[in-house]
Amino acid sequence: MSEGKTPRPIRVMFVCLGNICRSPLAEGVFRQLVHEAGLSHRIEIDSSGTGRWHVGEPPDKRMRATAQRHGVSIDHQRGRQIEADDLEYFDYILAMDRRNYDTTRRLDDRDATLSKVHLFRSFDPTPDDLEVPDPYYGRGTEGFEEVYTIVDRTARRFLAHLIKKHGLQHEHAA
Ligand code: 4NP
Repeated sequence: MSEGKTPRPIRVMFVCLGNICRSPLAEGVFRQLVHEAGLSHRIEIDSSGTGRWHVGEPPDKRMRATAQRHGVSIDHQRGRQIEADDLEYFDYILAMDRRNYDTTRRLDDRDATLSKVHLFRSFDPTPDDLEVPDPYYGRGTEGFEEVYTIVDRTARRFLAHLIKKHGLQHEHAA
């Protein structure tokens, strides 16, 4: 990387169905990891849902409580629906499950765009499954905690991947 020239931030979007449970948690956890690594100015982060039922709403209160238990606040986030333009704008679009992966890929099927869309858990260091289970219906606190555990370890590995691939330096404020 040439000195004195900062490239534009790498743009990352997490996608689930409602944008009120899994992808808001992934956004919040990843944002915190990126902050701790001193890389907030190098990585831009957002999340969205393929559905539009919860546009404008804060995350589900069970997920907000789960995040809070782990020192992450997602309260300020508001639901939004993914659009075709997001596939143009973002560099990494990480879907929480196959259904959302498929829906996202159908928004823009040009090769250059399709290569940006991944299953989030393809970065999971210990995947027993490639989907983040949907905790919205019929799963108690345990289901939300399980999602946190999966999201946390996968987000850490994804950040390590970005650092390596893009030659990012951990930068701490002096
Ligand atoms: P999420 O969970 O995709 O992790 O945000 C869901 C939230 C809402 C609905 C489904 C899943 N829903 O059907 O409203």
